[in-house]
Amino acid sequence: MLSEKLHTALNEQMNFEFYSAHAYMAMAAFCTDQDYDGFANFFLVQAEEERFHAMKFYNFLSDMGYRATIHGFDSPENHFNSILHAFKTALSHEKEVTRRIYNLSDIALDEREHATMAFLKWFIDEQVEEESTFDTLIRKIERIENDSNAIFMLDAELATRTFTPGAEA
Ligand SMILES: [Fe+2]
Ligand SMILES: [Fe+2]
Repeated sequence: MLSEKLHTALNEQMNFEFYSAHAYMAMAAFCTDQDYDGFANFFLVQAEEERFHAMKFYNFLSDMGYRATIHGFDSPENHFNSILHAFKTALSHEKEVTRRIYNLSDIALDEREHATMAFLKWFIDEQVEEESTFDTLIRKIERIENDSNAIFMLDAELATRTFTPGAEA
């Protein structure tokens, strides 16, 4: 049995993960429009990962005997000045996700809700990976920003990224 506060917070995070997918779709669309199909692929895979994260919350709520409630949300950022700007927006989004996961963990800890704490452990680890992925790419892009050949090589590299839920779970 989860408290009203905790089950509402878990439901909110599920919706925020769906919103994250939406935010990454906007970044993918920007990259597609700039003919950077590899960067676009990277963000499309990222969006799939976020939906997978949302479904983890959906299934956890269901396993605990609660029905997920699906919310609408505001439009994500659709305006980007450059590829670098899109990646910087992504990193700050992931930092916000981390902050929210930590808040959620604090509630579970306060309530000594061990099943939820165990469930959230995966997300705490995942956020380390997420921030690191974006941080690394930002540093790479900053280094090669004015070298179009290098940018095209990175674009080609990111075109090979695929969604593998097995590796995530
Ligand atoms: Fe996520
Ligand atoms: Fe993420």
